[in-house]
Amino acid sequence: MIPGFLRPALSQSLACAALIVGCIGSAPVLSQEQVLNLYSARHYDTDEALYADFTKQTGIRLNRIEGGEDSLIERIRNEGARSPADVLITVDAGRMWRAEEAGLLQGVKSKVLEARIPAHLRDPNGMWFGFSVRARVIFYDKSKLKATDITRYEDLADPRWNGKLCARSGSHVYNLSLTASMIGALGDAKAEAWAKGVAANLARSPRGGDTDQITGVASGECQIALANTYYYARLARSAKAAEKAVADKVGVIFPNQGTKDRGTHVNISGAGVVKSAPHRDNAIRFLEYLASDSAQQYFTQGNNEWPAVPTVALNNPALNALGKFRQDTQNVANFGRNQPNAQKILDRAGWK
Ligand SMILES: [Fe+2]
Repeated sequence: MIPGFLRPALSQSLACAALIVGCIGSAPVLSQEQVLNLYSARHYDTDEALYADFTKQTGIRLNRIEGGEDSLIERIRNEGARSPADVLITVDAGRMWRAEEAGLLQGVKSKVLEARIPAHLRDPNGMWFGFSVRARVIFYDKSKLKATDITRYEDLADPRWNGKLCARSGSHVYNLSLTASMIGALGDAKAEAWAKGVAANLARSPRGGDTDQITGVASGECQIALANTYYYARLARSAKAAEKAVADKVGVIFPNQGTKDRGTHVNISGAGVVKSAPHRDNAIRFLEYLASDSAQQYFTQGNNEWPAVPTVALNNPALNALGKFRQDTQNVANFGRNQPNAQKILDRAGWK
């Protein structure tokens, strides 16, 4: 099915095909080139300013299709070689990898992107690039524990935490990516032993999203939880007193920060150029724009994430309050490569 927003452009080009001489170099063709079709799993208020700024700088009009993360990948797959999609934006390197594995993306070489985006936050073959950073961290009940009681992901498997840990499903891509990073750091056997220990420590069978795990700590259902940082930042910045109260009760630990340790597991919100992109040059311009100082501000503010470009100043009170931390520099592309293995390990571990 042709998306509504493309129907006029497509019927115009069909008319041009019937009258080739009259259409070459004419306005309809040119205006078609100044377009970018963006398939985005993002829907934040700040994105309006982000896209308007891109159009202002480049004259390229942006058509946006919004959808759920996995359904956008499915949609491009179903549309096949005739997909109007130029750029896919989604969250988690594990999902970018799924799009790559499905043959939906193409490699991009860009000096701008290679200079601006640190190597560990992008695919080595340029299939996709990370534009903001989220960390998967440990939350704890400040009334029962100290920040030093648990300092590493490995500690989550310690029997000390039996019946005290909240975590969402092991099938969710965030936990698959974390487990994939454990595989990268420790190898298969140790990662599996870790996953078994974590599953054995769960306070309740996994349910809900990351916010529900943080809320579980605040309500006393568990003492520690695994979740992404932006869910906490959202609660901390909330205008609702009940949400703010949850954030106040819960402390944040960036794991594996010891001087010789590997750093905290980070993941990305990323984007890649679709293999069949009808406007490939515009797509690359858009990715380069996302790495610019001003775009990094818009892009990261929308979901309380850190800029991927390290020289961009952080302008977010909730994130500034969390302080600085050291990122694990394991390439995020590993989280995709190790994903099938991570799923098998989590299934065997009983982390449902
Ligand atoms: Fe999320």
